[in-house]
Amino acid sequence: MSNSIKDQFPVFRQNADEKPIVYLDSAATSQRPESVIKAVDDFYYKHNANPHRGSYQLGIEATEAYENARLKVASFINAKDPSCVIFTRNTTESMNLIAYSYGMNFIKEGDRVVITILEHHSNMIPWQQVCRAKGAKLDYIYADKGGIISDEEIEAKITDGVKLVAATHVSNVLGIKTPIEKIIKRAHEVGAVAAVDAAQSSPHIKLDVEALDADFLAFSGHKLYSPLGVGVLWGKRELLDKMPPFLTGGDMIDSVREQDATWAELPNKFEAGTQNAGGAVGLAAAIDWIESVGFDKIEAVEREIYDYAWAKLKEVPHLTVYGSDKGEHYGAIAFNVDDVHPHDVATILDADGVCIRSGHHCAQPLMGHIGTSSCCRASFAVYNTKEDVDALCASLLKVRKWLGFED
Ligand code: ALA
Repeated sequence: MSNSIKDQFPVFRQNADEKPIVYLDSAATSQRPESVIKAVDDFYYKHNANPHRGSYQLGIEATEAYENARLKVASFINAKDPSCVIFTRNTTESMNLIAYSYGMNFIKEGDRVVITILEHHSNMIPWQQVCRAKGAKLDYIYADKGGIISDEEIEAKITDGVKLVAATHVSNVLGIKTPIEKIIKRAHEVGAVAAVDAAQSSPHIKLDVEALDADFLAFSGHKLYSPLGVGVLWGKRELLDKMPPFLTGGDMIDSVREQDATWAELPNKFEAGTQNAGGAVGLAAAIDWIESVGFDKIEAVEREIYDYAWAKLKEVPHLTVYGSDKGEHYGAIAFNVDDVHPHDVATILDADGVCIRSGHHCAQPLMGHIGTSSCCRASFAVYNTKEDVDALCASLLKVRKWLGFED
């Protein structure tokens, strides 16, 4: 299957004498289309200055480019108020912002915080820190071994006394979508705030903060065809307004005296120091690119690749595929080759140019829950093809042979 989308990504344009790249690690970071790379270049070639500082023409251009990127992000996630869109470095920083600014100030001794067992460490450790500091309890919504969370589990764990629920939209390991809508609804029924880690859903599912009715939502640009080092936190104004700043310093103040200071309005209150304007411009260009393809096409292409990969991997002998045939999946499939460490699998695949991630995927409690300490993960984006999946499976068939297994 040819994929004209792939042609738009310079990293895949190898010379005839170069080994083709079979990139199956988009859940770690996606590749970038040429339009994004050019937009970032254009910013640095022609419009670079420090946003919100210079009152000269170039400074105004940099500020406009940065603020237009915010408008673009707001429209992308259907946020009615662009000043509730805060640029961060990545999802990890966004989740830490919620934990340190909201959690440390509004979670009290005896309260409960609920997360799921599917969480990436970036939506787990910040809550461990909050609960330890405040004397609150951290509870888990468990999934079954396939990653499926039941309604009963949601109702049993999100009860009176829960003040905050933080959950991933899509698991970075199993690729399964959580019942996030039910989790948010239940959180609100018991008076809790709901935060969504959309790092793994944002490239695959059209986000709509109004429809989701989350209180906070975070994602990273670099998984969304954008440069490294730019992320987003969106929050409801009534929460962001009452939260103190996470970081302090330049550009986040209203006024400063010798002994104290007052804070700027949103979003500046949460954007201390010089911001990654080039990254924001790249994110805006990535959103333009995504919208030019359209989520209908993205979902259709990725659904075909995912279903194909799932079926083909299940046919590979000596392979354990984690997860379930049930449920809605996006982006990632986790597996292990019998008797072979995942890092060895990844290294052998690399000899064929096949790029997968191996290890615990920053989800050690989930690893324990599904009965392993580490695994391999193939993950997909809209530029992948069935040929990529065939190359993965062909390479996997070599792994045990290379290592001297007889069958
Ligand atoms: N969070 C990224 C991943 O799951 C790095 O691979």
